[in-house]
Amino acid sequence: MKSVGIGIIGGGLMGREMASAFGRWLALTDVDVQPKLVAVADLVESTREWFRRVPECTQITADYHELLANPDVEVVYVAVPHHLHEKIYLDVLAAGKDLFAEKPFGIDLAAAENICAAVAKSGRFVRCSSEFPFMPGAQRVMKEAASGKWGRVLDIVSGFHHSSDLDASKAANWKRQSRTCGEIGVLGDLGMHALHIPLRLGWKPNAVFAQLQKGYPERPDGKGGVASCDTWDNAMLNAWTTIDGHEVPIRFEMRRLAPGATNTWFIEVRGTQGGVKFSTSEPKSLWLFEGGKEQYWKRTDLGFDTPFKTVTGHIFEPGFPDIIQQMWAAFLTERNGSINGRTHCATPEEALATHRIFAAALESQSSCSVMAVA
Ligand SMILES: NC(=O)c1ccc[n+]([C@@H]2O[C@H](COP(=O)([O-])OP(=O)(O)OC[C@H]3O[C@@H](n4cnc5c(N)ncnc54)[C@H](O)[C@@H]3O)[C@@H](O)[C@H]2O)c1
Repeated sequence: MKSVGIGIIGGGLMGREMASAFGRWLALTDVDVQPKLVAVADLVESTREWFRRVPECTQITADYHELLANPDVEVVYVAVPHHLHEKIYLDVLAAGKDLFAEKPFGIDLAAAENICAAVAKSGRFVRCSSEFPFMPGAQRVMKEAASGKWGRVLDIVSGFHHSSDLDASKAANWKRQSRTCGEIGVLGDLGMHALHIPLRLGWKPNAVFAQLQKGYPERPDGKGGVASCDTWDNAMLNAWTTIDGHEVPIRFEMRRLAPGATNTWFIEVRGTQGGVKFSTSEPKSLWLFEGGKEQYWKRTDLGFDTPFKTVTGHIFEPGFPDIIQQMWAAFLTERNGSINGRTHCATPEEALATHRIFAAALESQSSCSVMAVA
């Protein structure tokens, strides 16, 4: 096993999730590379303290520049609020490190373009975080798409729903304000999750009509006061894509206000002869459409069929921490030249493509018209 020194900038929700995926790396049975978390940088002392439970994490600092100067750090994972993406990603590249960057890869299209230009100039290995394609159900959707069994594709729906923002007493954080989350709001928050597989399969939207919706204009600020909240909370993008020469409607749903949903990622494709439906709310169930005189939606139990094999028995069900670990296996094996045809992580170009769609969606919302996607 080749060991790779990792530094994490931003040890909050996602920084800790990644550290825990490294901590159970022995679950993976067919990778030849292993992450070693050697450094973490975060502004908040209590957050930094959590990383003291990782014995090999010997550099714990408030100043990420110190982490970038550490020769043992080869790859930097960055999980900070969106307004800091561009500056920190460019600093990582300037320090000569490889980068695993959180979505949305910059606060807006201009930032994403700058980051992509810097990536190209640097020659560093850079990928963007997006874990749902590593779910066995998502893997199967991609396999079914390649099989050509669907006949003519009639429509596609891809989305991500959660409902925690329905609770008006939940304190505002940086994700509720355009200054820190971006004018794109929920698009930046959940858009990569809904768009990644369609983009990977070549279903790029050509034109989009957006319906964006705001949530509560004020929330508690967590310090006894009130904070104003100005981001879009729900987004419905009705778009057109071209598949095999046919114009196909494709809808992307990104909602922070989705009654009843916790963290539900889903994709549905319907064709004249076949189709597929998968949702993380039923993590083992895959639904396949079979056309004919009588028509069926057939359900099958998938089990633990992840792209990177594990000690976990094939009958068990996968979850969020598993696909985070799978995504890291993809990042590290691709970087190492040993991915061997398995699904690779989102590329800078794919991240930039999401921003072009978000920019068209904002224009569509303000003009109430269909906008072409660049
Ligand atoms: N892939 C996913 O499923 C997923 C899920 C949630 C969030 N995210 C993305 O991860 C990123 C972070 O989101 P989060 O939910 O972890 O946020 P968070 O608020 O939980 O964590 C952000 C951390 O960054 C730290 N920070 C801020 N400025 C810093 C600086 N200058 N130097 C060092 N640390 C700094 C904060 O102290 C905080 O601990 C965002 O880009 C978000 O879109 C991805």
